[in-house]
Amino acid sequence: MALDRKPAPNDLGAFWMPFTSNRQFKSAPRMLVSAKDMHYTSADGRQILDGTAGLWCCNAGHGRPKITAAVQDQVETLDYAPAFQMGHPLAFELANRLVNLAPDGIDHVFYCNSGSEAVDTALKIALAYHRARGDAARTRLIGRERGYHGVGFGGISVGGIVNNRRFFGSLLAGVDHLPHTHLAENAYTKGQPDHGAHLADELERIVALHGAETIAAVIVEPMAGSTGVLMPPKGYLKRLREITKKHGILLIFDEVITGFGRLGSPFAAQHFDVTPDMITCAKGLTNGVIPMGAVLVSAEIHDAFMTGPEHVIELFHGYTYSGNPVACAAGIATLDTYAEDGLLTRAADLDSYWQEALHGLRGLPHVIDIRNMGLIGAVELQGIEGEPGKRAFDVFVRAYEAGILIRVTGDIIAMSPPLIISREQIDELIGTLAEVLKATA
Ligand SMILES: Cc1ncc(COP(=O)(O)O)c(C=O)c1O
Repeated sequence: MALDRKPAPNDLGAFWMPFTSNRQFKSAPRMLVSAKDMHYTSADGRQILDGTAGLWCCNAGHGRPKITAAVQDQVETLDYAPAFQMGHPLAFELANRLVNLAPDGIDHVFYCNSGSEAVDTALKIALAYHRARGDAARTRLIGRERGYHGVGFGGISVGGIVNNRRFFGSLLAGVDHLPHTHLAENAYTKGQPDHGAHLADELERIVALHGAETIAAVIVEPMAGSTGVLMPPKGYLKRLREITKKHGILLIFDEVITGFGRLGSPFAAQHFDVTPDMITCAKGLTNGVIPMGAVLVSAEIHDAFMTGPEHVIELFHGYTYSGNPVACAAGIATLDTYAEDGLLTRAADLDSYWQEALHGLRGLPHVIDIRNMGLIGAVELQGIEGEPGKRAFDVFVRAYEAGILIRVTGDIIAMSPPLIISREQIDELIGTLAEVLKATA
């Protein structure tokens, strides 16, 4: 009988885990059962220091009472409201709060449910914007090598991670890529590297190749997180802004990781003093508690759509859960928590302490580069010949066993702790990693 074949509730087989080596995990599961502030509790009762803010999202740490209460209240008060042709007050309140945090000139918010959706939304808005202005030939999208923009077809097309692209067919047509900005000569740079601003000029080459009149938008992470924490060289983003402006190309900053204080400013746009036309965000928007993403959009883009008969839908795009009331409540309470604890600028205060602690790992076995900015850092290891990623994965597993949660991409260890981390906890995180590295074959 079919029912007899149903797995038991604690059987690990049914859940196909995302971006996970499923067979390895299921042979030695790493289960988290609760979390508070800087720590997870594992199923075997250990305290794990969170060195990654979950997945770069729990910027205020875990179990924050205000966010918990807001979510609980909202579920009781208004669990759901239709997202299309109807509204509820919290969606407007959160949008106003976000616009206030964003750089000047960014005045509107389009909601979605994840970073991937935010990216695809921004790309669609870019295409539709040019069309709305009668510039319909602008259909090309430019991403960057080693960029990560989530897993939608738009995001993997403009993204530059080989494994995220090669398995999924021909992707979007009319996409080109800038070179990545990770140069060997910048190894062990503290903060922003000196070399590489000229790499932005590659956009001029792409423009010359395709014609500016065919290019809709350039999308980059101001600081690339998921491909191993790659810093923008000094002057690079400003140059990119100048070139895009000169050619009427929209500039999108994907701030899914850098948004909400990671670099010491609300957004990286402010940290680098470069204002794009759109900012994508997610993760820290709700402190990771409820899925939510958003695209923050300039008035110029938004207003280009606000023409024609008033009963007509201006942008044919949206999600059932765009501006979900519970997510909005979580978002507002998250912004309150960030404000009350000064978290959106705390990374700037901790930057030099974090930097010195992290760079103290230099010289340990297999370490070939260390990079940092705000409360984010990467330690790059020499990979094992013929087994890329194995060495760092081994470090990740042993670090977890030693009581710290880190993240690895290829042979790069990335850390992005909650912005509430104390100096003692920085010492503990880096000290434990040092011990693990010393014991690494
Ligand atoms: C820069 C960037 N864009 C997009 C995404 C995708 O976000 P999500 O996993 O919420 O779809 C991520 C996730 O790490 C990201 O770092």
